[in-house]
Amino acid sequence: MGMVDRCVCRGVTFEELKELADRTGAGLDELTDRTGCGSGCSMCVPYILKMLESGETRFETLPVAVRRWWAKK
Ligand code: FES
Repeated sequence: MGMVDRCVCRGVTFEELKELADRTGAGLDELTDRTGCGSGCSMCVPYILKMLESGETRFETLPVAVRRWWAKK
């Protein structure tokens, strides 16, 4: 199974986002404002939220239905 490690729309890795979040205390909204991640297709949003919660930066792909649900938020 493929691994997800970045916001594809903005070309920013979750490792880079984690470093920014660790350094600034930024949450999802601020990360989006600063990098644009999450403001394109939004498919990276659930992974960014999980990154902020767990500190992980590589994830197995989520089922398509879950991604669609998150994309509507
Ligand atoms: S993958 Fe991050 S906005 Fe599309």
